[in-house]
Amino acid sequence: MTLIRDRKLAPAGLEKINWVKEHMPVLRELETIFRDNQPFKDLNIAVCLHLEAKTAYMALVLKEAGGRVAVTGSNPLSTQDDVAAALVEEGLEVHAWHGATPEEYNEHLYRTASTLPQLVIDDGGDLVSLLHKKFSNHIPHVIGGAEETTTGLIRLRAMEKSKALGFPMIAVNDAQCKFLFDNRYGTGQSVWDGIMRSTNLIIAGKKVVVAGYGWCGKGVAMRAKGLGAKVIVCEVDPVKALEAHMDGFEIMPLLEAAAVGKIFVTVTGCSKVLTTEHFKIMKDQAILANAGHFDVEIDKKSLVSLAGPPRRVKKGVDAYTFKDGRRIYLLGEGRLVNLVAADGHPAEIMDMSFGLQVLALKYLLDNKSNLENRVLNLPPEVDRKVALLKLKGLGLKIDQLTPRQKEYLESWELDI
Ligand code: ADE
Repeated sequence: MTLIRDRKLAPAGLEKINWVKEHMPVLRELETIFRDNQPFKDLNIAVCLHLEAKTAYMALVLKEAGGRVAVTGSNPLSTQDDVAAALVEEGLEVHAWHGATPEEYNEHLYRTASTLPQLVIDDGGDLVSLLHKKFSNHIPHVIGGAEETTTGLIRLRAMEKSKALGFPMIAVNDAQCKFLFDNRYGTGQSVWDGIMRSTNLIIAGKKVVVAGYGWCGKGVAMRAKGLGAKVIVCEVDPVKALEAHMDGFEIMPLLEAAAVGKIFVTVTGCSKVLTTEHFKIMKDQAILANAGHFDVEIDKKSLVSLAGPPRRVKKGVDAYTFKDGRRIYLLGEGRLVNLVAADGHPAEIMDMSFGLQVLALKYLLDNKSNLENRVLNLPPEVDRKVALLKLKGLGLKIDQLTPRQKEYLESWELDI
């Protein structure tokens, strides 16, 4: 049994999947190799990711590689119903629909966990957490999993610290071919895609406040600058703040930025980043968007208590009107704006992230007898493999060290 909105939407979903596939050479290459040698034959694989076309293509690759794949969404608003329908049409088990209530979202997760996976891919940690809480008898049968995001890794590391983690989890997010591209260039582009699609307003000339200067924040700030915004970065980490300063951005505390900004983007991974004290001093028609995993960065409860329930002024834009007449616009209900108001990161970027995910599962299989129940990094060879496949897909060639140069780099004698 599968829980999706409408199977008849499948043709539109298939069209989207076929489009992204054309731009995902790493996954295409892995599909070709794994179709032949069937590494995941007869293994149950559960996937909890933002259910859009790139995710769907990766799930199909896992199926082609022999896996029995069940898919759910990692956010109730990022699931695309046509893509979910296409996956069902292709023979996958899917439990997800757009706009799921918290109860429905949990039911979808529960059904996915009920397939008793041996391998897991998670984005944010909800599936792994549920498996540990409600399927403890099955935990010894899980070979391992792979986590996509910074937020998920924070949860997993807390589990590891309290000795609660029951199987190895690969930190895909921490691979170079992930965070250098997905977090920076992926988030950088898709966040502005979401903001521009939902508002249809100009970015040039506006004061943009970016809260958080991790890899995602760097991308968001860089692309805002490229679009002509005047960018202010707010940070709690002194090193990152200095880095932002040297990258050419204005630095100030969020409480000061709140009074001057026009567009605010939260990318911190923390909660209550924008809250009562900020809302009270924001300009009329300030626009708020979140790009962190959970919808906790912009304090919606505080917005409601200051302004009452919001009014939907257009798709993806809610207006909170204050007693003094000021309006604050919240995009995508404070959920990941790039996935709620757009289609997530570009296909070429997710090609690398999902190439790493597939190879992480293969690594878990190949090394299952000697991996500890900890959060583990992918070995650098896997990063290299994905980078080489990507370069090949882009038709780019690079140099190689000569034997003499290798010798030089490996020697402590300077006169070689
Ligand atoms: N598409 C699928 N998963 C995604 C993610 N974590 N971020 C952006 N786009 C995505």
